[in-house]
Amino acid sequence: MSGSMMHVTTVIGARPQFIKAAQTSRALAAAGIAEEIIHTGQHFDKNMSDVFFQQMGIPKPDFHLGIGGGTHGEMTGRQIEAIEKVLLKNTPDWVIVYGDTNSTLAGMIAATKLHIRVAHVEAGLRSFNRLMPEEINRVLTDHASDLLFAPTPTAVRHLKAEGIKGAKVQMVGDVMFDATLHYKSKAEEPDWGSEAAPKQFVLATIHRAENTDDQSRLSAILDGLATSKLPVVLPVHPRTKKQVESLGLQFPANFRLIPPVGYLEMNWLESHCELVATDSGGVQKEAFFHGKPCLTLRDETEWSELVESGCNRLVGADSEVIADALRHPPSAPSGQMLYGDGDASEKIAQLLASFG
Ligand code: UD1
Ligand code: UDP
Repeated sequence: MSGSMMHVTTVIGARPQFIKAAQTSRALAAAGIAEEIIHTGQHFDKNMSDVFFQQMGIPKPDFHLGIGGGTHGEMTGRQIEAIEKVLLKNTPDWVIVYGDTNSTLAGMIAATKLHIRVAHVEAGLRSFNRLMPEEINRVLTDHASDLLFAPTPTAVRHLKAEGIKGAKVQMVGDVMFDATLHYKSKAEEPDWGSEAAPKQFVLATIHRAENTDDQSRLSAILDGLATSKLPVVLPVHPRTKKQVESLGLQFPANFRLIPPVGYLEMNWLESHCELVATDSGGVQKEAFFHGKPCLTLRDETEWSELVESGCNRLVGADSEVIADALRHPPSAPSGQMLYGDGDASEKIAQLLASFG
């Protein structure tokens, strides 16, 4: 990197991180900040990775580490080692990490040990469930970061309660809201293959470890969704595909299974469905952005303001509760603004520039 130009290194690796980084990359370039991208390789299928770089114009990663799969320790450890090598060769002013995956944790550890400042985008989220790998990742990353970009006032409160406060915590809004605003009009209908497109449908996504690794939770979720009168369109996450097979379960007959879709197709599904049922963090918010009610297939959510606003209901992994919620869904969102003004990415770029 040349002269005095500010230089940041972004560490990403899993699907939601590509989507979160897309708008920020554009904003960094517009602010004259040089960015290098390290792709850890945590997600690697074409439709879990490449498609987002193509559809969202994310710059091609400068380094692709190819480290996905394995146990938590194995994946995170190998990623730390490989990220450290890159950072030693080309030391940036900041390392930017997103969200709460193992790639987030690995990027944070590699950088902080080299005394490189870390900026955490989507800081302050809490489920208060330490059994979730994501909760450990986000708590540790928040505590070690030098600059914390919180998406909501609730996130700022969580950080304050843990003693993280002052100018290093900045409430900027949610970069995923920025992305939805940018791409909403570019939605594309997915390829339905040889069967006709469903006219009305429930859109579901399931991938969270606590649901897919537990046979009783996964089968209860499938049983609950099996009661839907409308077809349930499920873009199947690779983890869920593997687990349904290895646990000897079957997808219900009213499911319309499709491979994971690109971001533009996902926007189409979210804007055309009647209802969303998901255990995804990002998809809960996108249901809200697209004006759709949401059933959250979890016992708690980090995005508590959605539940408080009445458009998102926690239904856990209880087939009766899910069946009842499908018959009597929550009300659709009423146009409230909960996630900033759509300029979180620009604010992040400006704040990074001002911190130098
Ligand atoms: C990861 C994140 C989770 C996030 C999710 C987004 C962690 C601990 N979990 O979960 O927070 O919500 O990504 O989707 O970081 N696989 C493939 N092809 C791929 C990607 C994954 O086959 O392109 C397989 C892996 O080999 C593995 C399984 O799916 O067997 C799970 O992948 P992994 O990245 O460990 O966790 P996710 O469930 O995707
Ligand atoms: N997504 C997508 N294609 C799919 C499923 C999800 O593009 O088949 C997008 C979705 O629109 C959202 C993000 O992936 O922007 C959410 O990621 P995911 O559910 O994998 O992880 P989480 O948000 O739970 O960490």
